[in-house]
Amino acid sequence: MTESQAINQGLDGVVIANSELSFIDGQIGKLVYSGYNIFDLAEHSTFEEVVFLLFNKRLPRQAELDTLKAQLVGNRAVPAPIVDMLRSLPSTTHPMAALRTGASMLAGWDPDVEAMTPEANLRIAYRLVAQFATVVAAYHRVRQGLPVLPPRDDLSHAANFLYMINGVEPDEATARTFDVCLVLHADHGFNASTFSARVTAATLSDFYSAATSAIGTLKGPLHGGANEGVMEALEEIGSLENVEPWLDQALADKRRIMGFGHRVYKALDPRAVVLKKFSQRMGEITGKRKWFDMSLKLQDLMFQKKGLYANVDFYSASTYYTMGIPMDLFTPIFAVSRIAGWSAHILEQYASNRLIRPREQYVGPMDLPWVDIGAR
Ligand SMILES: CC(C)(COP(=O)(O)OP(=O)(O)OC[C@H]1O[C@@H](n2cnc3c(N)ncnc32)[C@H](O)[C@@H]1OP(=O)(O)O)[C@@H](O)C(=O)NCCC(=O)NCCS
Repeated sequence: MTESQAINQGLDGVVIANSELSFIDGQIGKLVYSGYNIFDLAEHSTFEEVVFLLFNKRLPRQAELDTLKAQLVGNRAVPAPIVDMLRSLPSTTHPMAALRTGASMLAGWDPDVEAMTPEANLRIAYRLVAQFATVVAAYHRVRQGLPVLPPRDDLSHAANFLYMINGVEPDEATARTFDVCLVLHADHGFNASTFSARVTAATLSDFYSAATSAIGTLKGPLHGGANEGVMEALEEIGSLENVEPWLDQALADKRRIMGFGHRVYKALDPRAVVLKKFSQRMGEITGKRKWFDMSLKLQDLMFQKKGLYANVDFYSASTYYTMGIPMDLFTPIFAVSRIAGWSAHILEQYASNRLIRPREQYVGPMDLPWVDIGAR
């Protein structure tokens, strides 16, 4: 490229492929998975049904859903060396780093990994959806010196995950709330981590490499890592009275307020609409409404002062926190759900592939005379 060209930093608004997976209207705050509005899915569907929807672009019949559930349950356990590896990590390792390493390592035990057929890749997709939850929960147990709990085969994906981290079966209401959180996080267009997965898949590298790329991308605080950042901010604020002084200072210091703003939504993120209700409900059930009240005030003030709307990460933070989930598991939980969307996108990319390779505009020097090392 020799002539100066318009640069689209951040690929803002660039459309690079057709997709049948999710639709976002950022102006009105609308999200659709393969034809179904997120509000309907949040009300009526389960995470397992959404996995079927994303993999098949239609809702399952009962027998198909039963088969899918059995497939996920049958794939929940991870090979023992994965747990040994998790035990060998320093306990200061962030759970996202543990998941990233665990996901990559799982490839070694998968007989389908190099086959690169649609059938083999679909089998991998089911395995990864099932096993991400197990890896995250196993790491959380081992870092506390607790025994790793084998997955239960009589619980839903959501309830089994909560059981594996806490050692107790969740009550029905908590399990359903968490299930809907998984539904809400399952897919979201060509977001940064999905794009990462697709870039890797587009080189025709294997499924595990693509999924591992996505985990690394989700970890960042401008993407999935924001949910942990929201809770850190709420803890830093500490009280309802301190919300406004804290925000004024943070804005004066030009800090990014986690959980606000979005590249695509210029209205309230519809996922935040649902999560806001969950945050309030969990706060009331547990007697810890403080985090919801502080969030509500922060949301109002951010809109007044900056015109910014809350995104998916904002109310998921207080929802998970009041469920008793540690802050550093918030982003791994995002991955436990989003592996469904990543997998669907990896399959879609393989099915209609073209190498993804943008260009740069070189702005460095040219044609410099060579200088020998002793003369530099
Ligand atoms: C999500 C995000 C990265 C989108 O960024 P983007 O589309 O590149 O938008 P920009 O970073 O260019 O932001 C546009 C303007 O809004 C401001 N802004 C955006 N989000 C902000 C936030 N959360 N806090 C404070 N200011 C913010 C920027 O400072 C910028 O202001 P300026 O034009 O005066 O410099 C950004 O909103 C952000 O950093 N949010 C916080 C992290 C977060 O919650 N991420 C999860 C997203 S689901």
